[in-house]
Amino acid sequence: MAESEKAKAASSITQEDKVRIDEFLASLESSFPRETDNLIPILQEAQRRLGYLPAEVMEGIARYLGVPPMDVFSVATFYNQFRFNPPGRHSIRVCMGTACHVGGARVILDAWRRRLGIDRRQTTPDREYDLDTVACVGCCAMAPVTVIDGEVHGRITPTRIDGILLAFEREREGK
Ligand code: FES
Repeated sequence: MAESEKAKAASSITQEDKVRIDEFLASLESSFPRETDNLIPILQEAQRRLGYLPAEVMEGIARYLGVPPMDVFSVATFYNQFRFNPPGRHSIRVCMGTACHVGGARVILDAWRRRLGIDRRQTTPDREYDLDTVACVGCCAMAPVTVIDGEVHGRITPTRIDGILLAFEREREGK
């Protein structure tokens, strides 16, 4: 699959997402007055309930508030707290702080990107993994570091990445 197709597949919404988005949009009327001051609280609530902000929900919020969709996109992308790709079952966060950078974080990020077939801030089409970078997590002595499902893994190498992914694969297959 080409990279662009993978990204597209990863960002496309499922039937389950669609139901949850419709439910969320239908709940707006009873939860938030139609005032533009409510835009950020509405976005926060959407992310809390859906795990991320799909384009469809931002368009629905724009319709609800009577503002151009572009305004909603601009506000959402301005704040770091919002994410636009669905969470994977496993979160992979590559530390790009100074010590990790010196220790080869670029190579590690590339290794994750190649193995998962996605770029940072993307989710695999099967929603198994999402990939992103983080600033220093305070474990510089273990550089280069990747935080996997909230747990710090130090001295990561491409070979260790293969081992970690194999372990997840086995777990998934119930071996
Ligand atoms: S720079 Fe990566 S843990 Fe500090």
